[in-house]
Amino acid sequence: MRLVWLTLVGWAAAVAAQGNFQCPAHAEISPCQCTVKKNGLDILCEFTDVFHITRSMTVLKGKPSIVIYYLKLRHNNLPKLQSFIFLGIDIRHLTVHNSSLAVVEESSLSSMGKGLTQLDLSQNILNSVPSPAFRNLHHLIILNLNHNKITTLHNKAFEGLDTLEILTLYENKIINIEPEAFKGLDKKLKRLNIGGNDLNRVPREALSILDTLKKLEMQENSISQIAEGDFEGLTNLDSLGLAHNHLKRIPAKVFTHLKYLNSLELEGNGIVHIDAEAFAGLEENLQYLRLGDNNLHTIPSDALRRLHRLRHLDLRSNNISVIAEDAFTGFGDSITFLNLQKNDIRTLPPLGFENLNSLETLNLQNNKLVHIPEEIMEPIVDTLRVVDIMDNPLECDCELRWYASWLKSLRDKDDEMMQKKRTVCTMPKEHREFPVQAMPLERMNCVGKNMERTSSSISTALYPLSTLICLLPAMVH
Ligand SMILES: *[C@@H]1O[C@H](CO)[C@@H](O)[C@H](O)[C@H]1NC(C)=O
Ligand SMILES: *[C@@H]1O[C@H](CO)[C@@H](O)[C@H](O)[C@H]1NC(C)=O
Repeated sequence: MRLVWLTLVGWAAAVAAQGNFQCPAHAEISPCQCTVKKNGLDILCEFTDVFHITRSMTVLKGKPSIVIYYLKLRHNNLPKLQSFIFLGIDIRHLTVHNSSLAVVEESSLSSMGKGLTQLDLSQNILNSVPSPAFRNLHHLIILNLNHNKITTLHNKAFEGLDTLEILTLYENKIINIEPEAFKGLDKKLKRLNIGGNDLNRVPREALSILDTLKKLEMQENSISQIAEGDFEGLTNLDSLGLAHNHLKRIPAKVFTHLKYLNSLELEGNGIVHIDAEAFAGLEENLQYLRLGDNNLHTIPSDALRRLHRLRHLDLRSNNISVIAEDAFTGFGDSITFLNLQKNDIRTLPPLGFENLNSLETLNLQNNKLVHIPEEIMEPIVDTLRVVDIMDNPLECDCELRWYASWLKSLRDKDDEMMQKKRTVCTMPKEHREFPVQAMPLERMNCVGKNMERTSSSISTALYPLSTLICLLPAMVH
């Protein structure tokens, strides 16, 4: 009770210090609605038109020292933001969303230069960046122009926005980014999203000045080639998204300037070839590499070998049929997550996983594996937390016994996700399926390794596999 009271007192003091936090009378601004928030008023105008919005703004202009923390205009018919429409109103976050906005007049936003930090003009029909209207917004941090009809980013499109940190242009129609399009954004910009557009090449000149950029999203474009130098200048980039483009090849040294890159997304491209030097420069920091939904025929080990910090390797949905014995030599011991789901893998080489000393998640779902020998799993079974071998034409054989004992020995025993997986094998002699963890071992004539498990000794099931194998000779006698 006391705490609530003190909070209220503090809140009231903050209100008094910051300005006018009282909503206008409902009738004055209807159909817009006003609520009081901690930092100012929150005003929402939906499903209305220019006439009603202009009338509400006139009411707000008559109340000096009012702080509008959010002004949200959504689903309206508002084809034009007229000059001076917000003049004299202190707005911090402005949204004009899904309102058929096509024109932003030069003096419509310029009065908000001191207060506006976020501007969202998404889901409208702007066909170019209304640069003159933006030029005074010297405190803007986030600009959202997603889902418009912009086709070209012309030179100096964002000039004046020298505090901007996040710019998103997702799902426009951009085919051309002029060389100086991002001029002025080189001081603070951290995130840029130009995904979902019609780019057919990396706009390298425009990007080259953005040396503060951390995250660049260019997914879902039509880029068919990348080349050495394309990312020159992006020296602080942490994350690069090139998924769902039309890349077929990843050439040598294309990312050499990205020394701090931590995450690279290349899935969904139809990549058939990755040069042995494709990832040169990424040695020290790359941890996440997504190569799923491509057309690789082997694990690109020569390119991967230099990535000695790699943790997460996703190769799902490729066309890999063979895993070489040395597929993970030289880089495998940092990998914790390996996804080989939906490939064409028929056999696993005996020592193929030997270097994967840190592996926690292994996904082999939906391949063509008939046998998964115990010897290949033995080096990794101690660290694994998740193994998925579902949807393979597995035969119930003694070599699969590792699965049941691994499942039993999972550190958190009630790991429901793993226990619920319906992993089955077929018993050819009996023409029927069994859950792999419940193979009828007594009918399978298993001899040798791990025989003692058939007599289901709980204590031995908890030992790591390697220990068991050392114990075996003694137990067989
Ligand atoms: C956009 O606004 C119109 C009203 O102008 C509304 O009918 C429509 O459902 C809205 N679309 C979305 C995706 O919200
Ligand atoms: C996958 O590879 C095989 C040869 O290993 C080839 O015949 C097949 O066409 C490939 N599939 C695709 C989708 O490229």
